[in-house]
Amino acid sequence: MKKFFVIGNPIEHSLSPKLHNYWIKLNNLKAFYDKKKLNISELNNLIKEVREKKIDGLNVTVPFKNSVIPFLDKLSNEAQKTQSVNTIYYSDGMVIGHNTDIEGFELAIKHTNYDIVGKNILILGAGGVSPSIIVALKNMSAKKIFISNRTQRKAENLKKTFNEIEIIEWGTTPDFDMVINATSLGLKNDENIILDYPTVSSEKFFYDVIYNPSETNFLKSAKKNGNKIENGKKMFVYQAQASFKIWNNLEPQVDDKVMELLN
Ligand code: ATR
Repeated sequence: MKKFFVIGNPIEHSLSPKLHNYWIKLNNLKAFYDKKKLNISELNNLIKEVREKKIDGLNVTVPFKNSVIPFLDKLSNEAQKTQSVNTIYYSDGMVIGHNTDIEGFELAIKHTNYDIVGKNILILGAGGVSPSIIVALKNMSAKKIFISNRTQRKAENLKKTFNEIEIIEWGTTPDFDMVINATSLGLKNDENIILDYPTVSSEKFFYDVIYNPSETNFLKSAKKNGNKIENGKKMFVYQAQASFKIWNNLEPQVDDKVMELLN
């Protein structure tokens, strides 16, 4: 019986077990996937269990995507570039940290039929997920990436790694084609992001990494003003698909049923 876990804190609301166990059953695999709430002091021992092959794979979520790195033997290029690990597996005697959020975002955009090539893109937030989005946008040939974060120092830190990004003061809006909410603002229903909606014309693409609630106020206002909108559900599903593929050596199906499962 293969064992997989998603680790984080808090973890109660993670939908990863539901999705992975659905695919496990569909493919008749002898495996189970559960969630584990951890403290940072427990990371070392858990990674040891991967090294001892007692655990076959881990997904990592907030707040451990970066803090897990010192306990790993090797990082993939994607994890190295972003300093963010969301998938852990054992291979050739080593515990390897990988990042499938990049692939998840790229596939999500592809399946939304939006062409990033030559676009000006504003990312709101410089937290855990932003480096993965920057790498994905670069892979997809975005023309220009702006970053705006309440705490400017964090945006400046990102610029140390990604020199080509331009920092925009929090609360101001440059001319953009697409805006991405990569903050946690909107997780609570009463939270709003201050964007100057009337001066933003109506043909922009508003993307929210949040998928629960499925329409944040950020997306609701954008839709009301006639813009294209998309939430983070596809990104979540495709990052999970990429992890599943690594661990089980088969590509699980993404279809309407999978999407409904997460409603
Ligand atoms: P972390 O910062 O630990 O990586 P995260 O959940 O990945 O956590 O990121 C949270 C993001 O949401 C950050 O960009 C954060 O901005 P700060 O760097 O200024 O904290 C942003 N965020 C959270 N609450 C916010 C608020 N009330 N107003 C503006 N931005 C907020």
